Amino acid sequence: AVDIAKLRGQSGLITIDPGFKNTGSTKSAITFLDGEKGILRYRGYNIEDLAENSNFLEVSYLLINGELPTTEQYNDFAGRITNHTLVHEDIKKILDGFPSVAHPMGVLSSLICSLTAFYPNSLDPNNTDEEIKLSMVRLLAKMPTFAAWAYKNKMGHPVNYPDNSLDYCGNFMKMMFSLPSEKYEIDPVISKALDKLLILHADHEQNCSTSTVRIVGSSQASIYASISAGINALWGPLHGGANQSVIEMLEAIKADGGDSKKYLEKAKDKNDPFRLMGFGHRVYKNFDPRAKIIKKAADDVLEKLGINDPVLDIAKELESAALNDQYFVDRKLYPNVDFYSGIIYRALGIPTDMFTVMFALGRLPGWIAQWKEMRENNEPIGRPRQVYVGSTERPFVPIDKR
Ligand code: ACO
Repeated sequence: AVDIAKLRGQSGLITIDPGFKNTGSTKSAITFLDGEKGILRYRGYNIEDLAENSNFLEVSYLLINGELPTTEQYNDFAGRITNHTLVHEDIKKILDGFPSVAHPMGVLSSLICSLTAFYPNSLDPNNTDEEIKLSMVRLLAKMPTFAAWAYKNKMGHPVNYPDNSLDYCGNFMKMMFSLPSEKYEIDPVISKALDKLLILHADHEQNCSTSTVRIVGSSQASIYASISAGINALWGPLHGGANQSVIEMLEAIKADGGDSKKYLEKAKDKNDPFRLMGFGHRVYKNFDPRAKIIKKAADDVLEKLGINDPVLDIAKELESAALNDQYFVDRKLYPNVDFYSGIIYRALGIPTDMFTVMFALGRLPGWIAQWKEMRENNEPIGRPRQVYVGSTERPFVPIDKR
């Protein structure tokens, strides 16, 4: 609680809500989330239905336009995206400037931001709806190219150009995993699993990265700059970076003899900064519906690919120990989407430091839809207030008198 009498230099009453735990920043018609009941819906459609029956581009269309597309609308949308997968050759020069140790998230956000230079008319806040639509198509089309190129840069391999005869996920996997001269067979199990993961990550209302996209966009910055900012917000280990941290944590437990109980105790110890990565959520206080779907998908993928991953066993042990532990029960800490997604990414052959890039690929249509909604609502510039707690007025003391 804030002691109003102590507020200095403030005019009027200011509420303080660190982390915006109870502050709504906007009205939105995109994603419905009930954290108590574990419900997630995009534009009214249950996430379970979409993950089972739809595909990522259809879900992208739904998020951005508000309705599921007709066949004609879908073909037009998917066709336009396919036509824009190539990127300007000079962007390769920017990529070449990054050392191979560069984290792919930093490379991705930089390449996305570089689109402001290649399409400078995006800087004009008065872009027409058609111009905005084109920017959105470009983003969806080029992001897989950039993501795969960020990986190739890390590996020191030559980049692959997009193959427009393939679908969205197939094209991405080919750019990631084949050499330019090589024939590449798409494994339908991998392609389907990837598509499902992208759907599950596609939007999640006003989370840290999405709020960032809206707030940057509210200053009328270019959509490319806004999405680039969202990628950077997603990077942190308390947000999208958690999927990388989960696997690193599970690997560390494995290397330490596989005693998951020991780590559960560490997570409960308030003098130990260790947290169980992939557990807990700001909004879900019952279960994360995405985690349920992903857990099943992880089992399916590992079985179909014939992979026996000891890290998955540790994950299951940790989950069941935590679900039966009073500390986790009292605080309503359940596995979140990141707890199992890393296990699938690993099974698909995606390296750990690309996990958050995969999350960004999935979240892109959500960011776009939210940016569009912010613009259509004519939202004012985002500008939170503060409660000043620093010094009161002080006379300046020259340096030789201090
Ligand atoms: N391990 C151990 N204790 C935890 C954990 C955890 N993973 N998460 C929360 N707690 C405890 C806190 O210590 C706190 O305990 P206290 O009441 O005794 O002080 C209580 O649970 C509430 O935690 P907060 O940090 O206040 O919850 P908040 O809503 O601010 O944080 C967050 C949510 C950031 C997700 C947190 O649970 C966390 O750090 N989890 C691990 C990181 C992670 O998995 N992030 C991914 C989130 S999902 C996503 O971004 C897609």
